[in-house]
Amino acid sequence: MTTVFSTTSLYEDQADRLRAAGHRLSLPESVGPIGREDLLRGVSDAEALVCLLTDRIDEEALSAGRSLKVVANVAVGYENIDIEAARELGILVTNTPDVLTEATADLTFALLLAAARRITEADQAVREGRFPVWSLDQPLLGMDVRGKTLGVVGMGRIGAAVARRGRLGFGMRILYHNRTRNEAAKCELDAEYVSFDRLLADSDFISVHVPKTAETHHLFDADAFARMKSTAILINAARGSVVDEAALADALEASVIAGAGLDVYEDEPTVHPKLLGLTERVVLAPHLGSATRETRHRMVELAVDNVLAVLGGRAPITPVN
Ligand code: GLV
Repeated sequence: MTTVFSTTSLYEDQADRLRAAGHRLSLPESVGPIGREDLLRGVSDAEALVCLLTDRIDEEALSAGRSLKVVANVAVGYENIDIEAARELGILVTNTPDVLTEATADLTFALLLAAARRITEADQAVREGRFPVWSLDQPLLGMDVRGKTLGVVGMGRIGAAVARRGRLGFGMRILYHNRTRNEAAKCELDAEYVSFDRLLADSDFISVHVPKTAETHHLFDADAFARMKSTAILINAARGSVVDEAALADALEASVIAGAGLDVYEDEPTVHPKLLGLTERVVLAPHLGSATRETRHRMVELAVDNVLAVLGGRAPITPVN
């Protein structure tokens, strides 16, 4: 009997699929984020590992899995896994693209609207009995979204889904910057490919959709903020490392830019203390991009599909390496 070790408990119907295929499902003894020892022990007799973005699957962990054939990450990103080491050890790695695209794009747009229309500040005001009197220059005036320019950095699946919401839902002009031109986005959304500099200078809203890599590290730093419009709002539901959080806090405090909607942070779950103190047009979410019941279920289902495929001698459905 082959063993599938999962660092987290799985939805019952998906656990049943593994068992029905004749695999033994092994889970950590304690709940919550898995400890290092539990991970190394759990993987030691497993043919397949199901893991989360928060699990560090480095060379040591991969080598500890002496019979490991596949690592199925329940996330689209996979920077938690040493892909090079997996390749050398002949271990397949899979992720969960597509199934989380729409939920992540929804969350991104929710941050954009919340920052533009100051929803979190408004919620707080109502709860605290500070219901503003309706007047022409009342507190909590926001900014229009319709017809504004949305700059998308990283026009992949999620970037395109966000651009689609902006264009088709809110009549926004779409600019994008990407490693390669996205002809489909040009046709469907009239999205214009521009240099990073132009995107910074011309966008009213900038939404980040690039992976965590050495090249994207602190792509948004003090210099980038200085080149943005002072009325611009930055949205990041991709990876925290893309934005220099301390520089962002400084830029917001000094009104170099107008606002930010963040779902990801450089050192999660820690958030830069200065950001926590900024509330005007600053909306903070705790890495909720894919966090809907339906989407999380589809992510686990795809991870299990990948495990079943590899253990059944077939090609993985969404391979990374
Ligand atoms: C979440 O951040 C993911 O990569 O799926």
